[in-house]
Amino acid sequence: TIMAIVYSKIAIGLLIAGISTLVFGTVLVFVGPIIIDEQIVKNTQINPQNELSYNMWKDIPVPFFMSVYFFNVVNPKEILLGEKPLVEQRGPYVYSEKRSKDNITFHTNKTVSFCEYRQYFFEESMSAGNESDVVTIPNMLVLGASVMLEKLPLPARLLISSTFTMFKEGPFVTKSVGELMWGYDSKLVDFLTAFFPDMVPIKGKFGLFAEFNNSNTGLFTVFTGQDDIRKVHKIDSWNGLKNVNYWNSDQCNMINGTAGQMWPPFLTTESTLPFYSPDACRSMELVYENPGMVKGIPVFRFVAPKTLFANGSDYHPNEGFCPCRQSGLLNVSSCRHKSPVFISHPHFYNADPALLATVNGLSPNKEDHSLFIDIHPETGIPMNVSVKLQLNLLIKEHPTSHIPQHPTASHIPHHPTSHIPQHPTSHSPQHPTSHSIPQCC
Ligand SMILES: *[C@@H]1O[C@H](CO)[C@@H](O)[C@H](O)[C@H]1NC(C)=O
Ligand SMILES: *[C@@H]1O[C@H](CO)[C@@H](O)[C@H](O)[C@H]1NC(C)=O
Ligand SMILES: *[C@@H]1O[C@H](CO)[C@@H](O)[C@H](O)[C@H]1NC(C)=O
Ligand SMILES: *[C@@H]1O[C@H](CO)[C@@H](O)[C@H](O)[C@H]1NC(C)=O
Ligand SMILES: *[C@@H]1O[C@H](CO)[C@@H](O)[C@H](O)[C@H]1NC(C)=O
Ligand SMILES: *[C@@H]1O[C@H](CO)[C@@H](O)[C@H](O)[C@H]1NC(C)=O
Ligand SMILES: *[C@@H]1O[C@H](CO)[C@@H](O)[C@H](O)[C@H]1NC(C)=O
Ligand SMILES: *[C@@H]1O[C@H](CO)[C@@H](O)[C@H](O)[C@H]1NC(C)=O
Repeated sequence: TIMAIVYSKIAIGLLIAGISTLVFGTVLVFVGPIIIDEQIVKNTQINPQNELSYNMWKDIPVPFFMSVYFFNVVNPKEILLGEKPLVEQRGPYVYSEKRSKDNITFHTNKTVSFCEYRQYFFEESMSAGNESDVVTIPNMLVLGASVMLEKLPLPARLLISSTFTMFKEGPFVTKSVGELMWGYDSKLVDFLTAFFPDMVPIKGKFGLFAEFNNSNTGLFTVFTGQDDIRKVHKIDSWNGLKNVNYWNSDQCNMINGTAGQMWPPFLTTESTLPFYSPDACRSMELVYENPGMVKGIPVFRFVAPKTLFANGSDYHPNEGFCPCRQSGLLNVSSCRHKSPVFISHPHFYNADPALLATVNGLSPNKEDHSLFIDIHPETGIPMNVSVKLQLNLLIKEHPTSHIPQHPTASHIPHHPTSHIPQHPTSHSPQHPTSHSIPQCC
């Protein structure tokens, strides 16, 4: 009588995404020691009259890289019989990322709006393997749907469950990296789109980053700093919103800081680096760790505080991000069409060790799995950035479903549809509030 996804409450690390390193090489031009404050103020404003710094802000002239690691599930059959998952990390699969700002509009009140577009290109020479590599990961289509299952009437559940069988969709999917990343045709998705158009938020191909290429991160309106340099790059609104509504407290819903690429100049060791991440649907704040050097330029290293993904009982201000589980996981289901997706540091670094015990094959360490931004304090310009996150799917027992259980593992549970995890979504605002929200094209 049990069902569906039989394994019990575990989170399987799915993949690490978004490891990008950038070095503002060309910025060195004006980061020399001769600069005086007045010039810094002038050069760090967003102002088309400062051609050099303006063009740099508009089309960042340094390479960004997104390195993706997959956790290949080694024992899918055994997991269905109750064993602990064993994963092996594959990758990196490295993509260079081109970013450029468009739709730039200056407003009279010293703010500027823009959309930032991104494009990805596979860099085989920097990767360990190629996009044809085949890996096995949890099937987000199926697992993501299990949450929705509860709410459907029995006939619909049975229909959908037989659909999974018909289209040979199981709890795990084995496909090439390229397909998993950028999308593959799924007969199941076609079917569901035809019958439940309102419940399936994907069009066409299904992939973890299917909507990423040639997308934008929403319409940002930021201060230019022309009246007050301390406000430069700070967000005034995102997609027309002054705050989001994914979370349960005003504090957690605040849109704080910058868009995450630059910060106001004159940082001190007391400063923090707040930013809003459309991909995580929340604001975050990095804290000072230590001084350093990047290519001979003095920098401050800012890192994630231990409390970043702590739960509400460990760190009260995070209560609004709950319902929570162990510390170290951020439940982003409210901004991923309700699918059971969690964000953490890679390998559950800085998370409750209990999480590590749910999966074999992870080994967190600071050097490989912590994130940092090395920033030139006088100008607020990042010199070396490494932002790493892991996406996790919660796989759990599903006692409420009444789908007939089959004895063999290959017939296991099939869950209905519905909300499908869209990873780094972000660009299309998903807010119920319906005052007209400005959008990028
Ligand atoms: C600045 O002007 C824009 C466009 O008119 C408006 O959306 C925004 O709310 C204003 N911001 C402030 C801080 O006045
Ligand atoms: C992203 O889109 C561009 C332009 O359409 C294309 O050339 C490129 O191959 C795409 N990248 C990936 C990884 O599919
Ligand atoms: C990927 O690598 C495999 C083995 O290294 C090779 O056989 C295959 O041709 C490569 N595929 C592409 C598209 O380069
Ligand atoms: C936003 O900033 C305010 C004031 O600094 C802080 O209290 C709040 O916790 C921040 N919110 C988030 C989500 O970081
Ligand atoms: C940036 O940081 C990485 C990771 O610590 C390091 O390996 C790399 O050398 C740094 N880049 C520069 C230019 O210092
Ligand atoms: C919060 O995290 C701590 C440490 O991981 C854990 O012991 C506690 O049970 C968690 N609280 C909730 C409500 O899950
Ligand atoms: C994640 O948050 C959603 C609400 O946003 C909640 O319905 C769900 O139960 C939470 N998941 C877990 C496993 O706590
Ligand atoms: C962005 O630019 C495109 C064409 O360049 C235009 O169609 C669209 O309306 C613009 N959007 C905004 C928000 O300005």
